[in-house]
Amino acid sequence: MFNEFFSEELNKAREKNLYRQAQVYDSNLISFSSNDYLGLARRDLSLTASRRGASASRITSGTFNEHIELENFIAQWKGAEAALIFNCGYMANLGTLSVILNSRDIVFADEYVHACILDGIRLSGAKKYFYKHNNTKHLAELIQEHRSKGKKSLIVTESVFSMDGDKAKLPEINEIAQANNASIYIDEAHGTGVLGSHGAGLVEELVEAGKITKDNIVVQMGTLSKAGGLEGGYIAGSKELIEFLKNKSRTFIYSTANPPLQAQIALKHLQEISAGKELRDQLQKNIELFETSLRGERSSTWQSNALINYSNEGTPIFAIHMPSTEAAQAKAKELEEAGYLVVAIRPPTVPNPRLRICINSIHEAGDIERVAGLLRK
Ligand SMILES: Cc1ncc(COP(=O)(O)O)c(C=O)c1O
Repeated sequence: MFNEFFSEELNKAREKNLYRQAQVYDSNLISFSSNDYLGLARRDLSLTASRRGASASRITSGTFNEHIELENFIAQWKGAEAALIFNCGYMANLGTLSVILNSRDIVFADEYVHACILDGIRLSGAKKYFYKHNNTKHLAELIQEHRSKGKKSLIVTESVFSMDGDKAKLPEINEIAQANNASIYIDEAHGTGVLGSHGAGLVEELVEAGKITKDNIVVQMGTLSKAGGLEGGYIAGSKELIEFLKNKSRTFIYSTANPPLQAQIALKHLQEISAGKELRDQLQKNIELFETSLRGERSSTWQSNALINYSNEGTPIFAIHMPSTEAAQAKAKELEEAGYLVVAIRPPTVPNPRLRICINSIHEAGDIERVAGLLRK
């Protein structure tokens, strides 16, 4: 019974060219699909943590000094009172949104937020409204119409959108929050390591520029898995928020703690990120080079087949929209044959097929120009 069901569903996906595989790629390919923006995942590191595994949940016997040191560092780096780590970013979002909201509350989320944000909102039971992507006019309309239906009110956005590479219009969102007695939940999975003078993310960048204050931001979420070069997620905010999560968040309470070994490496990586202006400068140079290389003369084939979506805002993610999943896969294959790993992203992960290019600080100029040239062809 079950196997028949699995086969039927998989066949349907195959027919639509949407079959997914967790495949091992040739390690000789130069990856332009990695979220390891600063190249930390590929560093050699000596390992000296007190122990490897935590062997228990954090609230039983699984808390070690490595966890506390990492959390203290995150809190100070994010300019927050406290922080809490989770096994991954997915669990951080799921385990936080599902408990800070309840059925009396109301949430306004960007329509492009990540699956784990959607799942967290769903689990919370809060009333939910989705505004058009990065459209603050639509957000203002929705919130003015529906704000009174909820007790607590939360606006949820990513800081750098994972599949499009554009930045949230946080100053405008902040004004809307202020005017409507709402709070903000920001997922900095892709802003962290990249933006702000210490790589703490978009919030840091905008606070430094005097464009926002943090008064309305109730949760700063981040991951250790993108520029952090490792695995894990975290939440930073008030002491009350963190104590609340320790008591209520099911993905925190009912799961074995992150390995202390991993927490120790994560701390080293975050310290490097915080002090790593050169890495970020190199990343920005690479982003600019890719952008100017893409902007070069486009051939007529390219113009008729695709629309290049520039992030244009200094982020490492470029969404290259393609007319079909077949076209996206064919272009990915062509890049692979030239020695580059660029993965085609298809529905339902995104509304329309694309090649998602991630620029890293360790990319060589020649490779960046070659990939851009192959995309333009
Ligand atoms: C915006 C965003 N939030 C959260 C996550 C989940 O993070 P993790 O991969 O650490 O589980 C991702 C990862 O894809 C993401 O892109």
